[in-house]
Amino acid sequence: MKSINTTLQAGGSMNGVVTVPGDKSCSHRAVIFGSLADGVTNVTGFLAGEDSLNTAGAFQSMGVEIDRFNETSLTIKGVGLNGLRAPTGVIDMGNAGTGMRLIAGILAAQHFGSSIIGDESLSGRPMGRVITPLQKMGADISGDSQGKPPLNIKPVSAINAIHYDLPVASAQVKSCVLLAGLYAKGEVSVTEPAPTRDHTERMLRSFGYAVETNGNKISLQGCGKLQACDLVIPADISSAAFLMVAASIAKDSDVTITGVGVNPTRTGVIDILKLMGADLTIKNERMAGAEPIADIHIKSANLKGIDVPERLVPLAIDELPVVFIAAAMAEGTTRITGAEELRVKESDRIAAMAEGLVAIGVDATATEDGMIINGSQITGGVVETHFDHRIAMSFCVAALGSSGPITVNDTQHIETSFPGFFDLMSELGMKVDSTD
Ligand code: S3P
Repeated sequence: MKSINTTLQAGGSMNGVVTVPGDKSCSHRAVIFGSLADGVTNVTGFLAGEDSLNTAGAFQSMGVEIDRFNETSLTIKGVGLNGLRAPTGVIDMGNAGTGMRLIAGILAAQHFGSSIIGDESLSGRPMGRVITPLQKMGADISGDSQGKPPLNIKPVSAINAIHYDLPVASAQVKSCVLLAGLYAKGEVSVTEPAPTRDHTERMLRSFGYAVETNGNKISLQGCGKLQACDLVIPADISSAAFLMVAASIAKDSDVTITGVGVNPTRTGVIDILKLMGADLTIKNERMAGAEPIADIHIKSANLKGIDVPERLVPLAIDELPVVFIAAAMAEGTTRITGAEELRVKESDRIAAMAEGLVAIGVDATATEDGMIINGSQITGGVVETHFDHRIAMSFCVAALGSSGPITVNDTQHIETSFPGFFDLMSELGMKVDSTD
């Protein structure tokens, strides 16, 4: 992928009414369940980003017909739970941890073998967390000697029922076990140590598959059927978060983001920003299928530093990099703890954010499981994204509160989750100066 460096001028105001691309988590799941369903599933609001397109490519390579009518509308001709064919080659999930971990659950239960690879970032991410429960279910799956990709899967005669206590609060691991569980003879259940996004459970129910949630325990019976349905994917709150922080820290700003997914397992960023004093209102709450959506209205505000409550961390895990930018602009100290999972995302997001914040003049100190940020003036500078889309977008947003320009190196990965980011942000008022 060609390297792109982007320079942003300091300051600017953000104003307008916009929507952001479709939810990445829901887009992956729409392709997976649509492929495994009986009948034709129509999807609107699909994220036309590299990650979810790779998931679509994986199922196409296993014989599923997926047609795209425009950027965001798909028709998936489901082949049924047992209708996948051996892939035409190695499955490449690119940058997508969600894609790899969810698909591993499906492929571990097939009557054919497969291999799943990823790009440099994904190749460094831990897969032991899915390999272990899948092996307990009788799957023949392995990673490299450190439990990292590539994943090699051999066919097995059966997938066993299991109860699995998740050692980490991870929706990807929960979903992987439940997806393999679709093929088990008997009940498969998981307990989670803290609530994580529940899109898998909601979407399975939309496909007519019974999933029980009892406190922190989620269970299903294997060998059922998924019935095709029409899905509307909400706008991604993880992408909207960049606009929320941008409008909060840029002077004289007033932004409305329409149709954003506000599933309570995803709204930690809203709670955190409100605790910091953001002027943020949720309007027009309604349902898009099984997912709640709303319009989010944000105006400039003087933010204050807080101790981020640990219970909000799993509910805002992908938004924490941009929360760190809000903290850099806040008066006083912000402390984030209990966020060690950030170290195994598309990059080590604690190290990458601390390094970048210091490079643009902020007093930030990385800790084992989070960060301490003393709000101060952002002065500008050059930052490395470590090929991580959310690190890139976070530092672009930082320019709105900076006194000097910021150059963000390697912004090309933004395409994985937020195609059109620079066009949309420029339309609202971000000063994108140059790219090279
Ligand atoms: C996701 C779960 C989260 C999140 C990721 C998407 C999902 O990962 O960070 O971006 O769609 O299930 P973990 O399950 O590893 O916490």
